[in-house]
Amino acid sequence: MPRPHPTLALLLAPLATATAEPPTFAEDVAPIVYSRCAGCHRAGESAPFALTSYAEVKKRARQIAEVVEDGFMPPWHARSEHFAFAGDRRLSADEIATLVAWEEAGAPAGEGSETPPLPDFPQGWQLGEPDLVLEMDEAFLVPESGPDIYRNFVLPLALEQDRWVKAIEFRPGSPTVVHHSLFYFDVGGEARALDEADPGPGFAKMGRFGRDGNLGGWAVGGQPVALPEDLAYKLPAGSDLVLSTHFHPSGKEEREVSKIGLFFAEQPPSRGFVGVQLPPHFGAISGIDIPAGEARYTKRDSFTLPVAVQAFGVSAHMHYLGKEVEMRATLPDGAVLDLLSIPEWDFSWQEQYLYQDFVDLPAGTRIDCEVVWDNSADNVNNPHSPPRRVRWGRESTDEMGSATLLVTPQEPGALGGLEQAYQTHMRDYGKQRVREAADDGSLAEIPKTVLERHRARFDKDGDGKLRGEEARAALKAWRDYRASRRGGR
Ligand code: HEC
Repeated sequence: MPRPHPTLALLLAPLATATAEPPTFAEDVAPIVYSRCAGCHRAGESAPFALTSYAEVKKRARQIAEVVEDGFMPPWHARSEHFAFAGDRRLSADEIATLVAWEEAGAPAGEGSETPPLPDFPQGWQLGEPDLVLEMDEAFLVPESGPDIYRNFVLPLALEQDRWVKAIEFRPGSPTVVHHSLFYFDVGGEARALDEADPGPGFAKMGRFGRDGNLGGWAVGGQPVALPEDLAYKLPAGSDLVLSTHFHPSGKEEREVSKIGLFFAEQPPSRGFVGVQLPPHFGAISGIDIPAGEARYTKRDSFTLPVAVQAFGVSAHMHYLGKEVEMRATLPDGAVLDLLSIPEWDFSWQEQYLYQDFVDLPAGTRIDCEVVWDNSADNVNNPHSPPRRVRWGRESTDEMGSATLLVTPQEPGALGGLEQAYQTHMRDYGKQRVREAADDGSLAEIPKTVLERHRARFDKDGDGKLRGEEARAALKAWRDYRASRRGGR
């Protein structure tokens, strides 16, 4: 979708260059394309063609001018009026003007000898040598075509003691078909059991099965980043790593063997962090129920921070019907700060955005989030034609929708209070939803509450109750999950 020119400078640029020499590939264009595009547009990376020579770039000069002008490339969807994101890929107005003027001038080569050499792209691990490298022990076959595939893979860890994870680097074996992968750990051996029960590498079952804690993730185009300062994820002794990977067939059969590099912190972190997910949509209780044809189906949620925090990252998650995400902070003095705005949601790019600097949010700050879906026939990504009623679900043709702000309390001791306030918020949101569902008669459509699901998972003998070993296992999983979120001791 075309977007307005970023600045006036862009409109004026052709005037300024009309009298000057037109830009050439060697002098002006190659430095931009090699540093801002070729990281993905080269052999073995996610983009569908290479932009690593004059011939390759010239062939697509027109298309390049178009995609940089309308902001489609480089891919970058996070906006904020007030905060800079680390690794922002967007081009400056000058860079865009140069690429456009070059195309208009007929894409001249300039002095061939001045074509800058390609940068030294990292060939191995981008963050250096990991402390631990894991690899899928069997290749997973991704067919040439067909629907998207979600699959979980278990990588045994055999850690004898708890470790603290600073960063995880994910390297897909077949980057053209791996869309994203989310990382979890599993302590009870449940993921291994699911893997054994499911033929072929990994297992298909989705949901909270075989995952006790979350370790971030990787999405196409994503660069590995370490958590800031001494923040770290807890990885408990005896756990297995679970990769929950989404594949998108590419037209060519591929065999995926993912590799994972783990980077450990020497010390436990001095403070933990929490993900404040708004709305806290989980399961059928979320109430996401989008009528066919509805172009602006909207959900909102607000949460007031009980303690002062520093926000360091933000992400959003929706499927094909996603349209917009907006997260704002209203400080106690009334100032409104734009934490994240994704004006044109693109399912292909679900990244974890880290702020350049910590964002200080005082106690009493209200976080507001609004997510909008478009289930009309005008949404070119709508998987249903004609549009159909769509509800919450894990398949990419179902919907989800929320944004998550990662925050660490200013005072390490305040984490418990923050977690508790967020838990209460989730509970209240759930209760509110049940009341609404009772009022509008849709209560019978909510099949299972989260607690029932948790109970079902540990109720091995199926008598509907958690007793003895079952109860202990359920409690332990819950505590590990909480601990993984908490950081610290
Ligand atoms: C982070 C990785 C990444 C970067 C950086 C990147 N691209 Fe892309 N590019 C992609 C991917 C992936 C696709 C395929 C997108 C799709 O099919 O939705 C793509 C597609 C394209 C297309 C085809 C668009 C179409 O309509 O089919 C063009 C042209 C393009 N990129 C140009 C560029 C240029 C020029 C730059 C630098 C200014 C750039 N890209 C930077 C990953 C990247």
